[in-house]
Amino acid sequence: MAKNWTADSWRGHEGRHLPTYPDAEKLNEVETTLTSFPPLVFAGEARALKADLAQVAAGKGFLLQGGDCAESFAEFHPNNIRDTFRVLLQMAVVLTFASKQPVVKVGRMAGQFAKPRSSPVEKIGDVELPSYLGDNINGIDFTPESRIPDPERMLRAYSQAAATLNLLRAFAGGGYANLRQVHQWTLDHIGKSPWAAKFSEMADKIGESLDFMEACGVDPSTVPQLQGTSFYTSHEALLLQYEEAMTRQDSLTGEWYDTSAHMLWIGDRTRFEGSAHVEYLRGVGNPIGMKCGPSLTPDALLRMLDTLNPGREAGRITLISRFGHDKVEAGLPPLVRAVTREGHPVVWSCDPMHGNVIKADNGYKTRPFDRILTEVKGFFAVHRAEGTHAGGIHIEMTGRDVTECTGGAVAITQEGLADRYHTHCDPRLNAAQSIELAFLMAEALNQERAERKAEAA
Ligand code: PEP
Ligand code: CO
Repeated sequence: MAKNWTADSWRGHEGRHLPTYPDAEKLNEVETTLTSFPPLVFAGEARALKADLAQVAAGKGFLLQGGDCAESFAEFHPNNIRDTFRVLLQMAVVLTFASKQPVVKVGRMAGQFAKPRSSPVEKIGDVELPSYLGDNINGIDFTPESRIPDPERMLRAYSQAAATLNLLRAFAGGGYANLRQVHQWTLDHIGKSPWAAKFSEMADKIGESLDFMEACGVDPSTVPQLQGTSFYTSHEALLLQYEEAMTRQDSLTGEWYDTSAHMLWIGDRTRFEGSAHVEYLRGVGNPIGMKCGPSLTPDALLRMLDTLNPGREAGRITLISRFGHDKVEAGLPPLVRAVTREGHPVVWSCDPMHGNVIKADNGYKTRPFDRILTEVKGFFAVHRAEGTHAGGIHIEMTGRDVTECTGGAVAITQEGLADRYHTHCDPRLNAAQSIELAFLMAEALNQERAERKAEAA
C-alpha cells in the first residue's frame, strides 16, 4: 500500500484545473452523501482489468479505449450508449480477427464528465465568463449563472454514471455482445462507408468459424467467451472532490480503490511533479493511465513511474502518448527507450486525438482524419523500430453519425462540419471513421505480428 497516503492527502498538493465552489457548505453535504453511496465498480473488477492489461504489457493483447470527450446530461440516452458500445465492439472484433490477440475494451464512458480547459475564461464578443468545465461541475450555457460550479451536479453525474454502467453491463453480459450477433451490429451509417462491405465479409467469416466449431461438436452457446464480453469503464480523474468521495477500502485486501470507474487516467495538464492528481492516484489500486505529451521529459516520466508504480506491477500503468502527427516520430522514442532501459512494465497506448486539433476556416474545432491516421502510423512505426509492443489506442468517438472530424472514406468537409456537430468539448470520430481506423490498425498489428514471428524463427 502507498506510504503516507490518505484519500484526502491530495488536498495538501497543488491542484490544477479544480473548480472553486462558492458554496462550501453545500459541497461538504454532497461529498458526505457521495461517500455513503454504493461503489460503482468492485475492486475485484479493477484487479481483473489490471490482469488483462498486464497481458497487454507483455505483448499479448491490445487495449481499445474510447468514448466521448465529455459525456453530458443532455446527450444521456440509451441509444447513444448502445451505439457507442456497439462501435467499440465492432472495432474490437476487427482488431481481434486481424491480430489474433485479445482486445481489452475500456469505455471513456459512465463518468467522463470533467474537463481541463486551455483557458479559465471564455469570451464571446465583449462578454467574458468562466469556461465550461464539464457537466459534473458547471453548465455549458453561456450565462453567468450556468457557469457557477454547483456541487449538486456531482450527484446527477453519479446517477447518470450508475445508469450508464448498468446498461453497459447488461449489453456486455446479456446477449447483445454474442458473437453470433456480429452481423446484426451493422450500423446504418457505416452502410455508406466502403468499410461496411469489409466488415460484412469479416462477419461472414466469423459466422463460418462458429458453424465449423459447432459441426466439430463445440456448442458456442455453452462457451461464455462467445456469449458475452468484458467491458470496463474509465475517465480522467480530474474532479478530485468526486474521486475522493468515491474512494473505498476493499474488504478483501484492505487496499484503497477509486470505485467511480475501473481505470482512471491523469491528463497531460495535471501530471506534473507535486500534482494533487498524481498524489491521489498513487494511493488507489486501480489501473492508471497517464497522458504523455511533448512537454514530458524521459527523466520526469521515470520519476512519475516510481511514484505511481514503485512495485513495478505489470498492468498498473498505461502510458498514453499524444504528441501530434508531426511530433510523434521524434518525441516518442526517447520516452520508450527510458522506460525500456529502466525495465518498467507498461502498456503503450496512442491517443491520436489531442495533439491534432485545428480550427477550421469556419471556426469549428476539428481534427483531420489523415492527421489522426498519421499519428497512429507513427506510433506503430516507433514501436516496431524500438522492439516494443504498440499496445493500445485511446480515442474520442461516438456511435452516432456526427460531423466533427474532417476526412475519412465518407469524406466530411470543413463546410460539412456544421451539419451534425454535437460534441460538448472536443471533436469525435463518428461510427464510420472509427471502423475505418480499426481496419487500418488491424493491418499494422498484423505487420507487427508477422515481424515478431519472423524474428523468432
Ligand atoms: C482528454 O483525454 O480529454 C484530454 C483532455 O486529454 P489530454 O490530457 O491528453 O490533453
Ligand atoms: Co478531449
